[in-house]
Amino acid sequence: MTTIKACIFDLDGVIVDTAIYHYKAWKRLANSLGFDFTEEQNEQLKGVSRVRSLELILGWGGVTKTPAEQEALATQKNTWYVDMISHMTPAEILPGAKEFVEACRQAGIKTALGSASKNSMMILEKINMVSLFDTVIDGNKVSKAKPDPEVFLKGAEAVGVPPAQCVVFEDAIAGIEAAIAGGMKSVGIGSPAVLGKANLVISGLNEMTLEKLNEL
Ligand code: BG6
Ligand code: MG
Repeated sequence: MTTIKACIFDLDGVIVDTAIYHYKAWKRLANSLGFDFTEEQNEQLKGVSRVRSLELILGWGGVTKTPAEQEALATQKNTWYVDMISHMTPAEILPGAKEFVEACRQAGIKTALGSASKNSMMILEKINMVSLFDTVIDGNKVSKAKPDPEVFLKGAEAVGVPPAQCVVFEDAIAGIEAAIAGGMKSVGIGSPAVLGKANLVISGLNEMTLEKLNEL
């Protein structure tokens, strides 16, 4: 048993389900380039950075673009994505997510956000959760993508807690690997078949309790 002093939460797929918006925007981009993009392919982009996602999609479509064209395409996708998330409301918070973050804070446990998304702040504002995190480390603050532990190590450092006393909540395998690489405990949100490397796998934060946290 470890005394947990900080919880670090991924955003997309843990606090909110934005995968559908990423999917719609990438599909629109793929279609504009003359090929389709499936939900199965979208699954493979969970936790993957915007730039890397575009590279994978262009590869699936068999399309080659120059670096300047790729930048313009990533910007176009983001414009469509931001347009959709600008309409998000607190009703889109995943079941139990806000309640568990609040329970951590009431128990004196630090809370951090650790996300690859450069749109994290906007989403937190839309769902009214900015004030529930002691620190927000997002895609604007890191140079190395998950499974590199940079995003979580920066979160731990910002709240002043050693990695061994941190727990990461993640829906992507790359995120669980990043937690392990950073010397942290992890809770997978999703399927045990995919996230089996985590210390515990649950289907959503509505299944999480402070008791389970301290049994990790
Ligand atoms: C991750 C998502 O949280 O953020 C990925 O799971 C996404 O699908 C990545 O590509 C980057 O997000 P953004 O908002 O900076 O394009
Ligand atoms: Mg995620």
